Amino acid sequence: MQHYQIRPAQMNDIEAVKKLANANRHALGFVRRASLRESCQRGWLLVAQAHGQVIGFCHFRHCKSALRTTIYELCVEQQWRGQGIGRALVEEVKRQLVEQGLLHLQLKAGANLPANAFYEHIGLQYIREIEGRQPSLKLWQWWPAA
Ligand SMILES: CC(C)(COP(=O)(O)OP(=O)(O)OC[C@H]1O[C@@H](n2cnc3c(N)ncnc32)[C@H](O)[C@@H]1OP(=O)(O)O)[C@@H](O)C(=O)NCCC(=O)NCCS
Repeated sequence: MQHYQIRPAQMNDIEAVKKLANANRHALGFVRRASLRESCQRGWLLVAQAHGQVIGFCHFRHCKSALRTTIYELCVEQQWRGQGIGRALVEEVKRQLVEQGLLHLQLKAGANLPANAFYEHIGLQYIREIEGRQPSLKLWQWWPAA
């Protein structure tokens, strides 16, 4: 049986999400509490929970005018990695994208991060490298099957 739950974040999850983001600042950059709060209110923040604790999150945005969903940050607590939780968070974002009639998912990841191999493994398409930052970013996309 699945030992964790994926659910929309509530305002009282924000501190736990922020703590997890801070612990992974090398990969995620600085994540603003205000931005997490705003996304939480809009339903654009998912958490993974186990034993009553937040053990992962995905922060994203559905943009109806661009027909696109963008993942800003995705993170699973170190000791919970490799159990399908990161994939489950992305799957829920994809499910919402399809439900809302949007056309594609995109995200950018630091070119040096192991997460790039994860994105490839779960079926995202590598598009191109975005120069101008050090390290550069890799752009990934996904489209629902026609
Ligand atoms: C990237 C991250 C979210 C993945 O979460 P996770 O819960 O460990 O991933 P999952 O267990 O769902 O992995 C799904 C599949 O991808 C594979 N995978 C996971 N991490 C991988 C990696 N670094 N390289 C290659 N494959 C990987 C798993 O083995 C699994 O394969 P399987 O389904 O064939 O068994 C997690 O490693 C993390 O939080 N990293 C730090 C923060 C970060 O870098 N975030 C992304 C910033 S852009």
